[in-house]
Amino acid sequence: MTVDADNARPAPRALFTPLTLRGITLNNRAGVSPMCTYGARDGLVSDFHLVHLGRFAFGGAGLVIVEATAIEPRGRISHHDLGLWDDAQLDGMRRLATFLSAHGAVPGIQLAHAGRRASVREPWFAGAPLDASDAAAGWAPWPVVGPSAIPAGPDWPLPHALDAHEIADSVAAWAAAATRAAAAGFRFVELHGAHGYLLHSFLSPVSNVRDDDYGGDALRRMRYPLEVIRAVRAALPDDVVLSYRVSAVDGILDGGLGLDDVAEFARHAVAAGVDVIDTSSGGISADRSTDTRVRRGFAFHADFARELKARTGAIVACVGFIVDPEQASRLIEDGDADIVLLGREMLDDPNWVHHARRSHADDEFDHWEPRYGSALGPRLGALRRLADAGETPLTRFEQPARL
Ligand SMILES: Cc1cc2nc3c(=O)[nH]c(=O)nc-3n(C[C@H](O)[C@H](O)[C@H](O)COP(=O)(O)O)c2cc1C
Repeated sequence: MTVDADNARPAPRALFTPLTLRGITLNNRAGVSPMCTYGARDGLVSDFHLVHLGRFAFGGAGLVIVEATAIEPRGRISHHDLGLWDDAQLDGMRRLATFLSAHGAVPGIQLAHAGRRASVREPWFAGAPLDASDAAAGWAPWPVVGPSAIPAGPDWPLPHALDAHEIADSVAAWAAAATRAAAAGFRFVELHGAHGYLLHSFLSPVSNVRDDDYGGDALRRMRYPLEVIRAVRAALPDDVVLSYRVSAVDGILDGGLGLDDVAEFARHAVAAGVDVIDTSSGGISADRSTDTRVRRGFAFHADFARELKARTGAIVACVGFIVDPEQASRLIEDGDADIVLLGREMLDDPNWVHHARRSHADDEFDHWEPRYGSALGPRLGALRRLADAGETPLTRFEQPARL
């Protein structure tokens, strides 16, 4: 970590070092992690999504990854997920990707299939599986699918185990969604291979007890995710980056995947065409009595990210309670990760990247949207003059420490 001698402010330069991958250049290493907002009807982008995600581009994020977007209707988590299973969903997505690009962020999207964890209520209704009471209100549950007929937890629906033909159809649906994502203008396409969703559920012995080509030993459990990766890579133009979010550990008391298993899968994933491994954890079970979540300390996936980077040689993204610019820069400088993703921190402060830059740089407003920057520069000068004159700032947001 370098320090500016004049004022001893830390200089988190690594965070602001551009990164070029295939046809994209991230202006900085801070991205917005995919976060479901459950605001879509029929999978369609709404004004809400444009404003919600557009704020992060205004706020200087190098990469904005659109929330888990279903590749087919039964792969939605809830009735209100975004989707890319239909050409009718292209226009809204195109508007979104164009807007993000126009404001300096690389437009990314996470493609997803919730598998046996599909058909649930929104988190503000406790995220429980839909039931007859929801059906009475017009939000009926739907049949869920997985590698084996094993529910995600007590009181969760029994998934239909996909047969070989259905698996082939599913691989094609991933590829079709990826084709649409690229056509809409997304330049970073992530596959949601974590949190117990369909791809993860094929990989883990907790949820996959098949005895055919798609289950049994570790290599067979990898087969479906690797087929999806190859099909998606083939569907994407060369200049589009392919990312894959893993759960680095299953986080379950008995029998789940550990870091060694996931690192081995990640090596195969990279060989099959993945450019970026995005490091998350857990989610294979919805049974709280066997769930052993990774402790939520600061940067709680950093050790996993570091290992995955060392063992795959891939570009690695890390997410999980990254809140501070110095901390974020250190993760990059120390070789834990190449990209830091922030979720809730960005919800709290969509201008996090601009604020991070201001914490060490003098070109305080050069990187802001000019309509904001041209007003905020003079405002900052006025605030400093008042502070020098000993005038007490009026609000807690204008304390000298924040200037
Ligand atoms: C509201 C919300 C929605 C989320 N939706 C997704 C999602 O769509 N896909 C995903 O992979 N992770 C999702 N996550 C997990 C985040 O991407 C992120 O990994 C997690 O919040 C930890 O990062 P943080 O501490 O910076 O928030 C979600 C998290 C939150 C809080």
